[in-house]
Amino acid sequence: MSGSAVALDNLSFRYKGEDRGSLAIAQLRIEAGEKVALIGASGAGKSTLLRLLDGRLRGFRGQASVLGRALDPARSLPRAWRCDTGFVFQEFALVEQESVRQNVLNGRLGRAQPWGSLLGRFGQDDHDAVERAMGDVGIAELAGKRVDRLSGGQRQRVAIARCLAQDPALLLADEPISNLDPVTAQAILALLHDCAARRGATLLVSSHQPRLIAPYVDRFIALDRGRVVFDGPPEALRDDTLAGIYEEAGLVPEPA
Ligand SMILES: Nc1ncnc2c1ncn2[C@@H]1O[C@H](COP(=O)(O)OP(=O)(O)OP(=O)(O)O)[C@@H](O)[C@H]1O
Ligand SMILES: [Mg+2]
Repeated sequence: MSGSAVALDNLSFRYKGEDRGSLAIAQLRIEAGEKVALIGASGAGKSTLLRLLDGRLRGFRGQASVLGRALDPARSLPRAWRCDTGFVFQEFALVEQESVRQNVLNGRLGRAQPWGSLLGRFGQDDHDAVERAMGDVGIAELAGKRVDRLSGGQRQRVAIARCLAQDPALLLADEPISNLDPVTAQAILALLHDCAARRGATLLVSSHQPRLIAPYVDRFIALDRGRVVFDGPPEALRDDTLAGIYEEAGLVPEPA
């Protein structure tokens, strides 16, 4: 058992049919309450690492522990553990024809009584958590609206509210700002930061916009072909370091 929110040792993973490893991490610790940005060129392994921490990667080698619980490479996470980790997907993964409130309520499925929630019956605790989460992300007035009538920024807020309704201790977000204008992107980053801070949750957010994300995190972890090539505070992430991280992929990061 480990006290860290994330503890990886000699971790390696390769997708079936791939000749190269997608993750190779000798050691990584993220302490409870830390707010971390995960960067690296396309294909570096960011989504794969987030999937691993969400308990959705079978067949990895080495040790991986999340919130003090060892992940089993051969099994899915037990239901009772699953809701402690929240995942905000890049593509939102919302139910388009349902209302905002119903989508956020879906975040309670893991916490609610199994048979009751299958029948659409949630308890007062679930409804309270949903109202709180919608209030926290500023979408209370959209509660009755259908998700397919919302803008990208509003949809991202719904996705975050659904995740918060789950009451996670570890908040994973895979490129949550990739489809948003810079002003909306900053509002979403501030929201993720503040919601994690308020709940004492750990935040790990992947992004291709390191300069935009820097004010909202305490630490950057950069991956290159599945390996950690930088791990440090935002102020240590100099332009030449950043250029090095993206160089081999032929990418130029956005200007400071
Ligand atoms: N389902 C999959 N099956 C096989 N290979 C995969 C699968 N998903 C990802 N990969 C490979 O694993 C490596 C890491 O991919 P991953 O999606 O984790 O990168 P990423 O850093 O999230 O990239 P991006 O910035 O484009 O989202 C890549 O080489 C990719 O081609
Ligand atoms: Mg990805």
